[in-house]
Amino acid sequence: MKVLVIGAGNMGLTYASSIAKSGHLKKEDLMIFDKSLELLETLKKSNENYEVYDTLLECLPIADIIFIAVKPYHNDDLMAEMVPFLNDQQLVISIMAGVTIETLQKGLGIQKIVRAMPNLPAQVGMGMTSYLAAPEISRIELWMVEDLLGCTGKTVRVDSQMFIDASTGISGSGPAYVFYFMESMMEAAKSMGFSDNDSKVLVITTFEGAIELFNRNKLSANSWMKKVASKGGTTQAALDSLDDNNVKQLIHDAAYSAFNRAIELGKPSMELQEK
Ligand SMILES: NC(=O)c1ccc[n+]([C@@H]2O[C@H](COP(=O)([O-])OP(=O)(O)OC[C@H]3O[C@@H](n4cnc5c(N)ncnc54)[C@H](OP(=O)(O)O)[C@@H]3O)[C@@H](O)[C@H]2O)c1
Repeated sequence: MKVLVIGAGNMGLTYASSIAKSGHLKKEDLMIFDKSLELLETLKKSNENYEVYDTLLECLPIADIIFIAVKPYHNDDLMAEMVPFLNDQQLVISIMAGVTIETLQKGLGIQKIVRAMPNLPAQVGMGMTSYLAAPEISRIELWMVEDLLGCTGKTVRVDSQMFIDASTGISGSGPAYVFYFMESMMEAAKSMGFSDNDSKVLVITTFEGAIELFNRNKLSANSWMKKVASKGGTTQAALDSLDDNNVKQLIHDAAYSAFNRAIELGKPSMELQEK
């Protein structure tokens, strides 16, 4: 099996490096292509475990599975460039936000399309990817897709585009919500007089410790909150303040804003506007 990654940016390189590290493919079976010749020259020198190509003509016709990792607004141009070299046995995995399976099937003239929504922790092998496969994809092909996507972390297969948009609101954009919370806590620590460095250590260690506790037990998040808080105590004062300020509802609304924006981007007239 030969895999081609188109687009050597943040996500394309993450997939190429993660698949290379997984040992699933030999160097000659993992290919990467980008339109920037300068970037390709740098990649050739870095000697990673994949082959770097300057033209689609050389790599696209021999690929079995093709990752599309360009920005959504480059998709129209890219699809036009790809069409002459595609055949209907090839399978395309798109990670472009908001670009639907139907658009890719129509634009590329092939049916085997997977739409995936990864997130940034994919860069450190702790990504969360939801994906949806067109019905034309066989069970064996699905296993291959899951293996490849799984090289960057965990995967969840969903059965409608609605869930791809919904997961954009939870796991796709989610790392930014966590960073927002971290930044807010670090700012509070600094306003209490801690140094930048101490604020960072206090917050990071608290996040790491809380996640570790959560992962090691079957308790719900709410049960853990009750374990930390005692009636009339310090934690309860903070939790009451969060409730009084309706923070839970605000987080809910934020996730829905991302979800609704993903739906908007998927509408035909909006599809190419994400920059
Ligand atoms: N970053 C995330 O956290 C995240 C999460 C989920 C999904 N995604 C999706 O992942 C996709 C890629 O995002 P990214 O952050 O990796 O983008 P990026 O860093 O901009 O990388 C895209 C690369 O593709 C190149 N490119 C553009 N048109 C091309 C073409 N026709 N042929 C070959 N290469 C081409 C770009 O070159 P130029 O720079 O010269 O244009 C750039 O090097 C996006 O569609 C985004 O929606 C990203």
